[in-house]
Amino acid sequence: NAPRKAPLEGHTSEGGPRGGEGTGGEAREGASLLGAGVRRVDGRAKVTGAAQYAAEFDAEGLVHGHVVSSAIARGRIEHIDTRDALSVEGVLHVLTHENRPRLAWFDNSYRDDDAPGGSPFRPLYDDRIVYSGQPIALVVASTPEIARYAASLLRVTYQREVHEVDLRAALPEAFTPKAEREGYEPPPRPRGHADEALAAAEVSVDAAYSSPFEHHNPMEPHASTVVYAPDGSLTIYDKTQGVLNCQAYVTKVFGMAKEQVRVLSPFVGGAFGSGLRPQYQLFLAVMAARALKRSVRVVLTRQQMFTFGHRPQTLQRVSLGASKDGRLQAVIHEAIGETSRFERYAEAVVNWSGMLYQCDNVRFDYKLVPLDVYTPLDMRAPGAVLGVFALECAMDELAHALGMDPLALRLKNYAERDQNKDKPFSSKELRACYTQGAERFGWSRRAPKPRSMRDGKRLVGWGMATGLWEAMQMKASAKAVLSIDGKLTVSSATSDIGTGTYTAMTQIAAATLGLAVDEVTFKLGDSSLPPAPLQGGSWTVSSVGTAVRVVCEQVRARLLELARKVEGAPLGKAKLEDVTFAGGRIHLRRDPSCSVSFVEAMRAGEVLSIEEEGVGVPRSQEQNKFTRATHSAVFVEVKVDEDLGTVEVSRVVSAIAGGRIVNAKTGRSQILGAVVWGIGMALEEETLMDPKLGRFMNHSFAEYHVPVNADVREIDVIFVEEEDTIVNPLGVKGLGEIGIVGVAAAIANAVFHATGKRIRDLPITLDKLL
Ligand code: MOS
Repeated sequence: NAPRKAPLEGHTSEGGPRGGEGTGGEAREGASLLGAGVRRVDGRAKVTGAAQYAAEFDAEGLVHGHVVSSAIARGRIEHIDTRDALSVEGVLHVLTHENRPRLAWFDNSYRDDDAPGGSPFRPLYDDRIVYSGQPIALVVASTPEIARYAASLLRVTYQREVHEVDLRAALPEAFTPKAEREGYEPPPRPRGHADEALAAAEVSVDAAYSSPFEHHNPMEPHASTVVYAPDGSLTIYDKTQGVLNCQAYVTKVFGMAKEQVRVLSPFVGGAFGSGLRPQYQLFLAVMAARALKRSVRVVLTRQQMFTFGHRPQTLQRVSLGASKDGRLQAVIHEAIGETSRFERYAEAVVNWSGMLYQCDNVRFDYKLVPLDVYTPLDMRAPGAVLGVFALECAMDELAHALGMDPLALRLKNYAERDQNKDKPFSSKELRACYTQGAERFGWSRRAPKPRSMRDGKRLVGWGMATGLWEAMQMKASAKAVLSIDGKLTVSSATSDIGTGTYTAMTQIAAATLGLAVDEVTFKLGDSSLPPAPLQGGSWTVSSVGTAVRVVCEQVRARLLELARKVEGAPLGKAKLEDVTFAGGRIHLRRDPSCSVSFVEAMRAGEVLSIEEEGVGVPRSQEQNKFTRATHSAVFVEVKVDEDLGTVEVSRVVSAIAGGRIVNAKTGRSQILGAVVWGIGMALEEETLMDPKLGRFMNHSFAEYHVPVNADVREIDVIFVEEEDTIVNPLGVKGLGEIGIVGVAAAIANAVFHATGKRIRDLPITLDKLL
């Protein structure tokens, strides 16, 4: 069982369907491009530094803002003395709640596209402090260094109030959230009699799990460069997952017309959810630019990246009951997360436990506890990554109590139908994930007893878990322009946060029109382009990809219409279904030697270009008859040094059922990155709160640990074949989140198998193992 290594320069990805790179002008059947491991079309720009990020755009007379953050968690600002700061040469302005301009928004609480229920945080609104790290002033100066230095000279006095940042201590304040924002589904209704069934079960487990605050920590810190035009209009380069969300925010908050605000975000250095909501640096940069009537840039420091949203700390309890032969009789899953005092951030933590396994007696509960912290924020596979951790650890505990193989237990309780919604799955190849993943990993050679496998001095453990996530499609639109030189440009106001959107969209467009990859350009990250949703929820390829498909089909139809005008009518009266598009030509299906080039068609039609706008609209009525989800099976090997308590994740096999894979290479990269993050979640990541200060303390990469190369060993990705005609016309389900779900549970289960120690509190640091 030799695990396969990641190829450094693999054009064809392991486990991917159909390899091959789509370059060169040779005619190729468009369909084969879908699935090919095409190299990132933006890769060269990224590695050579040509790609520009929000803080790298320049403007004439650009000045720089530095944010001053609150030192207390709750109370009031008594006084901000700005005199020393203002006396520094080069300092232009200090914005505080005392001198900020009046804004209509301050009274009516506009909510952005990803806002939970409640009233959004409004920077510099008044003297109230609602969390530690809250921005309380912006110092604007001619250079970033001067601004930062001057910011250190601000003298702020506070009236402190008692804060509460301890989830356990605040439990009496727990409440049940409502369905307060689109996308949040409250826990499913109970089925049967879970408590009675649990009490009567022959074998049962009941365990509490917990996970810490975590922060997104993308490589690129949040930044906004606001370019101020003499007429007061703004061109804003922002780090965001949604240029339209930011454009709407700026127009609504500052009372500006849409035409006056253009938001661009051509490249994003990672976001993972941290860019779903407009962040305060955008607000402050715009406010300063309008106050000073000049261009302003605000970049957050790494420390300040810990001040606007995080994965919520969570407490969970899972009880499972089963018959002796391993059939689930009861599933009870309760979870408590935290939120701020001003917004109710709710996520689906327990819901997954009602759909992953067949069980007729289930009960769920999910509550929130308000703390004096900033509102939590979606972070890669929000909710699922936590809920599935607890469920999949509990399943492992149950397997152990039953003396049953953990994989066999899952197969025994395989859900053929989503019992939460009483609907069939649009497709579900989870069984293939289990089978192929287990085979590749060598699972059948696992010695069942904990502490029974060794590698020299180290204990070896094998663990596994299941993952799942939703497969969603949102309405999106795109524009296509095919010019007479045969080049195609497609555009949409979506983003590429590193996910590979540029490349996937280029492939879909090229495949639809039978063009080569280098004949197609895809543009994104610009609010002036056709509307697209936020990039999140793993729905971009599904949503924007469908729009790209639709608009390119419209171009096909136009081309054929024009081709009919070509002298001699070589294609006769052919309809769309009678022709194929390849190599820049339209071919008759029954006689491919009969063809018309795109250029000939456009000449015959006397046009220099074909322009189309198209919309990808979800076929909701049809789709809603089904539960649409991605699945995974994760197999993990750990090696634990008993003397030191160190855990090495030596091998991971992640088998994914994600529908059609558009790009085997970037798709695989998504899963690799997510598995690495799963290792971090299991073993390293936690933001530590000082309860006395009410402040996150390890707010730097020196102390907030994420996996480094030395922590990452063999990771093997399998994409199982999965056909789905329901999710969208492309049959794609999305890969952004599924790769992390289940990884932490598989690692925790492997650690138990290695050591016999069940660590239910993440992360599994060495002190917990010694
Ligand atoms: Mo993702 S947490 O939907 O950016």
